[in-house]
Parts: sequence; C-alpha cells; structure tokens
Amino acid sequence: MRKNIVAGNWKMNKTLQEGIALAKELNEALVADKPNCDVVICTPFIHLASVSPIVDASVIGVGAENCADKASGAYTGEVSAAMVASTGAQYVILGHSERREYYGETVETLKAKVELALENKLLPIFCIGEVLAEREANKQNEVVAAQLASVFDLSAEDFGKIVLAYEPVWAIGTGKTATAEQAQEIHAYIRSLVADKYGKEVADNTSILYGGSCKPSNAKELFANPDVDGGLIGGAALSVADFKGIIDAFKA
Ligand code: PGA
Repeated sequence: MRKNIVAGNWKMNKTLQEGIALAKELNEALVADKPNCDVVICTPFIHLASVSPIVDASVIGVGAENCADKASGAYTGEVSAAMVASTGAQYVILGHSERREYYGETVETLKAKVELALENKLLPIFCIGEVLAEREANKQNEVVAAQLASVFDLSAEDFGKIVLAYEPVWAIGTGKTATAEQAQEIHAYIRSLVADKYGKEVADNTSILYGGSCKPSNAKELFANPDVDGGLIGGAALSVADFKGIIDAFKA
C-alpha cells in the first residue's frame, strides 16, 4: 500500500545539542498527538547516532541526507551507507538538487548510492526536479524522466523500497511553491513513468512526495492531490510548530 509520508530535511543546520533538542521536542509533540502519516527526520550524519535512540520508532523514522557512492575504504571525509545504517537510521535522502548542483552528483553516482543504500537496508528518498530555466522551457517532464534513470535499473522488488520526492528547484527555499495543479500534473506524469517501467501495481504503491517551500498553510492543498503522497520539508522542518502543522495536514 502507498504510504503518506512527511519527511524533514534539516540540511546543514543545527549543532548536535540543538538537533537533539529539536528531535526531543518533535518526539514529545507526536507521541502526545499521533500523526496520521509516516514521519521521518533526515539529519546531518553527526546527529544520527544520538537522535535515533531518543525518538519513538513507532512515530518517527530517522534518515541521513546523503551517503557515499563507495562501500568503504580510502575516501577521506565520506560516510558509507553501512555507517549510516549502523546508527539505527532507516532512510537516506539521495539526489537532492543541492547535492546535484554543488557536489556534482550525476545519474551514475546516484545509481551507485541507491544500490549501496538498498544493500544496507536503507530506504532511499530519491529526489528529482527541474530548475527554473527548464520549467520555463517546458522541459520538466524530460528532466525528471532522465533523472529517474538512476533508479530504473532496479528490480521491481528493490524499486518498491524507494520513496520518490519531486522537488522543483525553483521552489526550494524560495517561498515559491508549485501550485497544487502543477504538483498533481507532474506527480501523475512521474507515476505514469513508474507504471510504464514496473507496471500499475508498483506505480500505485510508490509514495511520491512534494518538496519546495511546503508549509502549514499550503500543505493541505498540496497533499489533497491524488498523486501527492506527502512532503519533503526543508526550512519548515526546523520548527516543531511548522513541521507538525504540515504533518497535521493529513488530519481531517
Ligand atoms: P524547503 O526545502 O522546504 O526549504 O523549500 C525543501 C528541500 O530542499 O527538501
């Protein structure tokens, strides 16, 4: 069954102490008022081992924001999927547009990362999305189709473990959100690509999250679309009130 998911992406924010405090506060809020969707927080690597044991695993999943494209060895400064999994984390964001843009991640490096994540039983939250010039040239469908090549070599069983996140780069951190219609249109297209590749059942079971300036005031309208199964939340995930406001969009 397709799951509704709200995932936070802390990016490069919060010291260890601040991150622990944020995770504790969120945990308390969600234990007191259980969410109607899966909730995940993706944190910097250094927070994972401290945050995993303090959240109630039945309410909050924990993930990394990246992992290495190599299994182990002489790759100074990198963190492997096995290391991420050893902290108790269950998820990993892969292919975020900031990683593609600033750290040169390509379809090929992301293919390696996805495979290593799955080998280590991490569930990838795989991000795709076009930049403004591509949207203006009406090339968004081509762009997401090309980006999906990183996950379209997987077996149907492995693909079934992937969560997709559509994040138009022009909407990330800009305050400009895709309209509910724009989100639904491209999410439906992405689901049709999954159906062409893996069949209707796999496509129906794939969660496709929207990301890009999602906030409590627009989450309900975005998530009400039949092909939008939740959100990947940046800035608003740094405040419990805002993040919970988005989670509560799944409540009546
Ligand atoms: P934003 O970021 O919610 O701050 O726009 C979303 C993301 O980059 O995942």
